[in-house]
Amino acid sequence: DKGNHRHFMLKEIYEQPDAISHTVSHYLDLANGKVKLPAKLPFDFKSLNRLTISACGTAFYAGLVAKYWFEKYARLPVEVDVASEFRYREPPMDADGLALFISQSGETADTLAALRYCKAQGQHIASIVNAQESTIARESDIVFPIQCGPEISVASTKATTAQLSVLASLAIAAGRQRGTISEAEEFELVDMLAKLPGAITKALASEDKIDQISHALSKADDVLYLGRGSLFPIALEGALKLKEITYIHAEGYASGELKHGPIALIDETLPVVVVAPSDQLFDKTISNMHEVAARGGKIILITDEAGAKSAGDDVSEIIIVPDAHEFVMPIICAIPVQLLAYHTAVFMGTDVDQPRNLAKSVTVE
Ligand code: M6R
Repeated sequence: DKGNHRHFMLKEIYEQPDAISHTVSHYLDLANGKVKLPAKLPFDFKSLNRLTISACGTAFYAGLVAKYWFEKYARLPVEVDVASEFRYREPPMDADGLALFISQSGETADTLAALRYCKAQGQHIASIVNAQESTIARESDIVFPIQCGPEISVASTKATTAQLSVLASLAIAAGRQRGTISEAEEFELVDMLAKLPGAITKALASEDKIDQISHALSKADDVLYLGRGSLFPIALEGALKLKEITYIHAEGYASGELKHGPIALIDETLPVVVVAPSDQLFDKTISNMHEVAARGGKIILITDEAGAKSAGDDVSEIIIVPDAHEFVMPIICAIPVQLLAYHTAVFMGTDVDQPRNLAKSVTVE
């Protein structure tokens, strides 16, 4: 049932404040500002020497964001790969590694094959799934459910932000066990996750503005998405969402890679979506935007108030996200990229919930 919404995708986009609030309530002890995992871990983060994450599509991008979090807050080396590559390259794996699989459906063939490979390599097996009765869940030593309710739209939205919320909680838990964050830091990070539903509600308020921007975007043949750090995977996610439901060619790049190739594409016909809240590296993003604007590229900037103030004249359109710490920004910035793809698709009249050639669950290679 779509309720009052025209599409399941929009319904699921709007379910995110509640979904995340539900998800984090299973992973956090909000009264005491601590992480409280729903099950006892069959391994100890302290003795792990590596975390290996495998997944496909959007779930892979969630894993890429998690790499930034686990490395920064838990000082744990992380490898992330798409499951279809991982499973065939026979990577060597040391004992005391944790292998983590992210899958909404829990049935994705490549992700399952990667899981079985890691099991044969003696890794601890954990999964983050929505479907708790799924094969991936059954074959894991420990399952972290995302608790967001069924997701019907082929383009994943609420499952993605719920996966990210679980990953963020796990990164804090890992940091505490490994002694890389203090109790006070844990308290602050938990508080940021607790405030996410409110921040997401604020991010959803940009919908009308995004709807207007989408009309021009629908005329493009190609769109470039740029982001740095933990927002780089959100640029990839924005490009994937746009491709999936509008069939417009889009690519995500790390902003620093602009000069190493994609800048050759820039002309007046190429919109560039820059996902960049103000941070220590914002100056570098400003200079990237300048390079784009100097070649006639039209910039759509997703940023916070401070970023909007310092962005200058190079930017054609600005989508404001609420101010927040960089830790939670990837989850907040996922919202405008979902809405941008959604409204562009609606404007173009494509089949939003059932895009051509795609299936919700990819159970064959
Ligand atoms: O069920 P899974 O999370 O394992 O699915 C993985 C991908 O097929 C999925 O995320 C796909 O990329 C979505 N259509 C993204 O919107």
